[in-house]
Amino acid sequence: MVRISAPGKLMLFGDHAVVYGRPCIVTAVNHRMSVNMERRTDNKIIINAPQMKIGTYITSTEELDKENPKEVKFVLTAIKNFFKKYNVRSGLDIETKSKFSSKFGFGSSSAVTVSTIKGLSELFNVEMSKNEVFDLSYKTVLDIQSVGSGFDVAAAIYGGTIYFVGGGKKIKQMNLKKLPLVVGYTGVKGDTPTLVKGLAKKREKYKELIDAKFDISDKIVSQSREHFETSNLEVLGELMNFNHGLLNSFGVSSLELESLIQKAKKSGAYGAKLSGAGGGDCMIALVPEEKRKGVEKAINQLGAVINVSPNAEGVRIEK
Ligand code: MEV
Repeated sequence: MVRISAPGKLMLFGDHAVVYGRPCIVTAVNHRMSVNMERRTDNKIIINAPQMKIGTYITSTEELDKENPKEVKFVLTAIKNFFKKYNVRSGLDIETKSKFSSKFGFGSSSAVTVSTIKGLSELFNVEMSKNEVFDLSYKTVLDIQSVGSGFDVAAAIYGGTIYFVGGGKKIKQMNLKKLPLVVGYTGVKGDTPTLVKGLAKKREKYKELIDAKFDISDKIVSQSREHFETSNLEVLGELMNFNHGLLNSFGVSSLELESLIQKAKKSGAYGAKLSGAGGGDCMIALVPEEKRKGVEKAINQLGAVINVSPNAEGVRIEK
């Protein structure tokens, strides 16, 4: 049996713009998805997902092309793509477990996809480079969602904090010294594909304006990259505020996000922004250590602080 785990992620800068081939900065977080896998002697594929509504799902290697329930779609599409690419086939017993709820928007789908591909490469003795794991996992996510930059897939594979250019054109590890974040959950689930498609529609009408904002997003990402190196938290906080202003102007923020962001800033955060697609999910605030308690208390009045550490290790084989 192999046991694999991969981290979730938080987008720090460059949300949405990255879908258009622009850069972003993403950090892997210590909330992990894990997948246990074993080959079977028959052609059954049995997925046990005790934390999901579906519980146990039984299918077979002959049925991988059929429409599957959303809870097991990423695992089964990853298996289908792996079998096709490497011309292998076998029944499987699989168990998936999450250390975090999929409602936070930490990227559980990409983490489970990466864990599945990595697990299959171990089970079938196929040597895959990180880039190859990225390409097959990203293809799997696109097969299902049709939109997405792949930044979450890269975070799950490489871990740490990375500079990522949309589609995986560039993936560079960054040297992060300090990142005192507070993460606040709004209590509302954002729907990434809908928000991404909504902005695409808006861009059809206001292309010049929105592309000019993406140019500013690029500048924010490149300046933040420099300030990460020197841990200039005050400037990084200001850059978060600029970045959030852009995202808000795209119409992807929400009342809940705005309330948490304003509260965090009023309570002494250097800066705050939504993280990811918006519409709900989580916001992040960069805080001076002496203000952390106050910011957390303020966020807990309106939403919930989620305990998260950045810069987590990428996909790994668990012993
Ligand atoms: C979603 O978490 C982040 C977006 O930039 C989409 C993506 O990059 O795939 C909105």
